[in-house]
Amino acid sequence: MNRPLLSRRLAGAGTTIFAEMSALAAATGSINLGQGFPDTDGPRGVAEAAASAILEGRGNQYPPGIGIPELRHAIAEHQQRFYAQTYDPDTEVLVTAGATEAIAAALLALVEPGDEVIAFEPYYDSYAACISMAGGTRVPVTLRPPAFRPDLDELRKAITKRTRLILLNSPHNPTGAVFTRDEMTAIARLAVTRDLLVITDEVYEHLIYHGEHVLMASLPGMRERTVSISSAGKAFSFTGWKIGWVTATPELVSAVRAAKQFLTYVSGGPFQYAVAEALSLPDSYFIDLAEDLKSKRDILSAGLADIGFEVYPPDGTYFITTDIRPLGEKDGIDFCRDLPRRARVVAIPSAVFYDDQAAGKTQVRFAFCKRPEVLTEALARLAGLRTG
Ligand SMILES: Cc1ncc(COP(=O)(O)O)c(C=O)c1O
Repeated sequence: MNRPLLSRRLAGAGTTIFAEMSALAAATGSINLGQGFPDTDGPRGVAEAAASAILEGRGNQYPPGIGIPELRHAIAEHQQRFYAQTYDPDTEVLVTAGATEAIAAALLALVEPGDEVIAFEPYYDSYAACISMAGGTRVPVTLRPPAFRPDLDELRKAITKRTRLILLNSPHNPTGAVFTRDEMTAIARLAVTRDLLVITDEVYEHLIYHGEHVLMASLPGMRERTVSISSAGKAFSFTGWKIGWVTATPELVSAVRAAKQFLTYVSGGPFQYAVAEALSLPDSYFIDLAEDLKSKRDILSAGLADIGFEVYPPDGTYFITTDIRPLGEKDGIDFCRDLPRRARVVAIPSAVFYDDQAAGKTQVRFAFCKRPEVLTEALARLAGLRTG
């Protein structure tokens, strides 16, 4: 027992804060604006498709390892419809247990011990854990407020002989930044010149309020070096179903599949049928989803700004990053630990998403994927923090 357990190695970045904050939310009757899940389910027709699949005996036994054909075809059609990119549903699409498994399997498949993986921080907590489990070394490039734009000079300097890949998340959790076409193109050029792979986490691809989602794989030279990852959780408001996917070349898909085989092998059979139907929803569904979330973003942004937070309005995702210094606060972790008692609201200190914790020390993240009346009530509870 002298060697540190894996839980010790993975401790730090975000691993415990969500559990701690959710427990605090339950114990204090707080409104939980911490973890990002909607408080209303997705389309009823999609839920009915899942129920029918179960009752009709579709997907109740192990589905094919790469995912059911209906879903693989629907994913390929989705990439064609939104990004004009062609993927072979039989060799270039892999269904996973949420984006979480896709990220883990891709990193385990592509990173060898000692390889460096560049990720923009603050980053989603699974990145640090999965890079560590793959034996890689994470190399952060920091996004800074107010706009959280990627600094391409810093990225260039971060690339070394050991760099294996760039792990990119746009729209970006937690900052809400949506990388522009120019930024994506510049990153792509670096990847091509330095012969790097890119893993893109695109789970918020349909949650964009300003700008566009650029598929990294569609940029020159990137189709053969990009592993694109997305999932149904955010786009269809069924985060508990955990249906995700990978699109990439046959070689890259086979590599990721080899790791996935020994993580879950398969998962969510009946939900795969339902997500196949969800992906075929008309454009109006995706437009309405973004409109609805945009109005919620506006309610929470305006309310938090009015209370005195410095608000960095997000272009995408369902998170708002704020700075608490104008409220006279100095430490986001202390602030969030105390907030349930003070205001019966839960938020997440962004410091846990940074290696350089000082960089995010006074940032606090709020989720706005909640009903308008819940957001209004949360703001009423937070009003007591108002200074002056
Ligand atoms: C950036 C990012 N990637 C991946 C995930 C996980 O996606 P899934 O629920 O499909 O595993 C999340 C969920 O919060 C996320 O924010």
